[in-house]
Order: sequence, then structure tokens, then C-alpha cells
Amino acid sequence: MELTLDTPLDMHLHLREGDMLRLVAPFSAAQFAGGVVMPNLVQPVDSLERVRAYRAAIAAACGAEPFVPYMTLFFRDYSREELVAAKEEIIGVKLYPAGITTQSEAGVRDFDRIGPTVALLEELDIPLLVHGETTGFVMDREEEFLAVYRWLAETFPRLRLVMEHITTAAAIEFLDRFETVAATVTLHHLLITLDDVAGSLLRPDLFCKPIAKTPRDRAALRQAVLGGHPRLLFGSDSAPHPRHKKECLGCAAGVFSAPVALPALVELFEQAGCLEHLPAFVSANARRLYRIELPAKGVRLARLPWRVPEHYARVCPFLAGKTLGWKLENDMAGPVSIERGQGRW
Ligand code: NCD
Ligand code: ZN
Repeated sequence: MELTLDTPLDMHLHLREGDMLRLVAPFSAAQFAGGVVMPNLVQPVDSLERVRAYRAAIAAACGAEPFVPYMTLFFRDYSREELVAAKEEIIGVKLYPAGITTQSEAGVRDFDRIGPTVALLEELDIPLLVHGETTGFVMDREEEFLAVYRWLAETFPRLRLVMEHITTAAAIEFLDRFETVAATVTLHHLLITLDDVAGSLLRPDLFCKPIAKTPRDRAALRQAVLGGHPRLLFGSDSAPHPRHKKECLGCAAGVFSAPVALPALVELFEQAGCLEHLPAFVSANARRLYRIELPAKGVRLARLPWRVPEHYARVCPFLAGKTLGWKLENDMAGPVSIERGQGRW
């Protein structure tokens, strides 16, 4: 059996830089027509100049494979001139609370001061993408941050707001109350709970921000996603870190899911008997809400057993060693070529 997905999109993606970019970008390009690229590089992508340089580096890393990198600016105080100049070259502005996750130290420290820039985003109709966590107790961070989302949605009623990588039943309930709000959901938050991360032997490969939550939260996410919620978008939050940054004291947050994204999603939707809702989750909802127009790209998968490699160069993928029931036809998932694997990672 075969299945073709029309123009799939990954609406939240970390591609990194340098050797890591060259290693990981081809996995996304093989599976997706485009993706929203996060700006949390070591030096954040916070100017149009840096957007352009990063886009060029991504294009070079994707080679001949058609893949549209939808660029984001790292939130800071921007002037109207800066945002007007950047508007046609970005898909949104990404806000991180300072220090909340990998490479977010330059993020927002004082939410009382973001109003003027958010007002400009609303006026210029530039989406605001938010990593919605407080610095509270780790399991409560997303729910506590809903107060900020509420303030944003009520104060800026025309702002296009995207709650990134939601993990809780409370976030799903919130989404249903505000028509202007959309949310991304990752593959791993649909599959795992905190028990998988820390219930038995500690699993650094599954440690990410936001941390995976309770079975009840996962059930609410699954119910909304598999039930075809029109404002939920697939965003892998694929976030590669080399093994020495994961398997050490002070494990970096991030799950590298790009190589398995579509095969695992197809398997999940098929097993739930909801395959008819997959095209909206991986493409149509995002195209409608973000008003994306891009050339059609069919991505084919075959119902064949596929064992996920233990690692690609020095990075371990999500579901390493597991056998999935679906395989990409354009199989980037085999051994990484010498050329791509020979960098530092
Ligand atoms: C991401 C990363 O490594 O850049 N990590 C993560 O745990 N998700 C950053 C982020 O999206 O929080
Ligand atoms: Zn992310």
C-alpha cells in the first residue's frame, strides 16, 4: 500500500547552523515542502540581514530538493521600519521567555514591555509565535503561561497568535476560546508522557521543553489532533543536539524527530483510524491560517517495515531502533552519506 501526502509542512523546526545544518536539513527537505525555521541560533536571528544569510545557508544545505524555509525573527523591540522591511521575508516573529529553553537567553525578561512591538505585529498582520512557558514548576509552566496568552489575545484581538508546541489539556481548552489563536503540536508530545522520559531509566533523547506531560494531557492532544481540529498545525519541534550534549550532566533540551516525522505520523493516524484528518494537520490548516501559497509537492510513503537507525552521525533520532510500519519512498533515512556525516557532528 502507498500513500501520497500533498505539500506537507513542518510549522516549527530547528535546523541549526554549519555542520549540524548540513546533516539535518535534508531530512526535512525529503519529507516536507516547507517549514517554519526557528531563530534561536547561538547568535539569534534578529535582523533582516541575518534572516537572509540564514535562508541562504538553509537553501545550500537542502541542495536540489525543493523546500521553502519560512523564516522567523527572534522577538526583541523592533521599530516599525524594521518590521515593514522584514515583512515580506518572514512568516512571523518568535517570542521566547528569556532562558526558558535552548539558546533563548536573549528572550523576553519583562512582559510588561512587549506591548509596543506586539501592537506593530498586529497592525502589520505579522504572526506572533510564542514559546509559552513560565519559570514556574516544570509541569505547570505551560498552564501558568495561559494568562499571558489570554492577555495577548484580548489586548490585541487582530493579532495572529500561534501557541507553539502545546502539551496540555488546558491549552486545548484555551484554543477553543479564541478564534484568532492557532497552535502547533509535535509528534513526540502525541506519543510520549513524562513516564517515558523519567519513569524508568532516564531518557535524555526524550528530554525537551516543554517537558512531556500526563496521560490525560496526551489524550486531550490526541483527541483534538486526530479529531481534525482546524487550528492545530503539525510542528515537529525537531531540535537536534549532538550526543555529547544529551548524554551528560546537564542534558540539552530537544528531541530530534525530523527523520521519522511523516512515517510516524502516518502510523499514528492510521492506527487511530483517522488518516482522513492527516492532510489538514500536516498541510491544509497551516496553508489556510498562515496564508501560504507554494508549489505542490507530493511526498510518498509505502507501507513497509522500517527500522529507525540508532544514530545519524553523532545525533540520535526520536524512536531510534524502533520499527515503524511506514517508510518514506525518498529514503533519506538510510546511512548518512560520507559527505554529510563527516562534519563535527
Ligand atoms: C529547542 C532547541 O533545542 O532549540 N528545544 C526543545 O526542547 N524544544 C528549543 C525549543 O523549541 O524549546
Ligand atoms: Zn522549538
